[in-house]
Amino acid sequence: MTDSPGRGKLRQELRKARNRLTSEEQRIASSMLAEQLKSLSWFTGARRIGAYLANDGEPDLSEVIAYCQSSDIAVSLPVLHPITHKHLLFLDYHANTPMRLNRFNIAEPHLAAQSIRLMDEHDIMLMPLVGFDAAGNRLGMGGGFYDRTLAHYRENPRRPRLAGIAHSCQQVDELPVAPWDVPCDIIITPDKIWQFDKSA
Ligand SMILES: Nc1ncnc2c1ncn2[C@@H]1O[C@H](COP(=O)(O)OP(=O)(O)O)[C@@H](O)[C@H]1O
Ligand SMILES: [Mg+2]
Repeated sequence: MTDSPGRGKLRQELRKARNRLTSEEQRIASSMLAEQLKSLSWFTGARRIGAYLANDGEPDLSEVIAYCQSSDIAVSLPVLHPITHKHLLFLDYHANTPMRLNRFNIAEPHLAAQSIRLMDEHDIMLMPLVGFDAAGNRLGMGGGFYDRTLAHYRENPRRPRLAGIAHSCQQVDELPVAPWDVPCDIIITPDKIWQFDKSA
């Protein structure tokens, strides 16, 4: 399976766009995203969510994570799978969880078997993305990590709701979609929510 050349160029442009945001713009975006999420009953009623630690200009979820940890919402973070190539594992995450830097220089919880949480234990998976369109298609950094990890759950009714988190500047008219791309059920930007699934 090879990537179409158009996707590589699009990734470059969209990553540049989000990295151009000032720290003040980033701060406002993160705070607006947190407010949006806290206003959604399917979010505040979740038992466990998957989140991520921001990298490369991605919206910062620190406020969202802190909110969850002060409520009854458990949080997991992704860890590069040590055995299955380019898959993710999700590990329980608390304020005092020991962390390490992975090969992308992103902090992740130390791998501990008892901290692994299965995909269907999550109600919501907040996913970073590089680009999205108004049909819910998601373009990632190009590694296909979320696509691979979620591939077996696409038709599983117990899978988490897949929520793409993005800056507004990451929207494009129409993404070139590959058969393996797993689309989002919801996309949330600081000022808009697109909902593609029927529930809630
Ligand atoms: N379910 C899958 N099984 C096997 N390979 C996959 C799967 N999903 C994606 N890939 C591989 O990962 C590569 C990157 O996927 P891509 O969708 O381009 O990245 P991203 O989702 O990060 O934008 C693809 O070229 C494809 O070969
Ligand atoms: Mg993909």
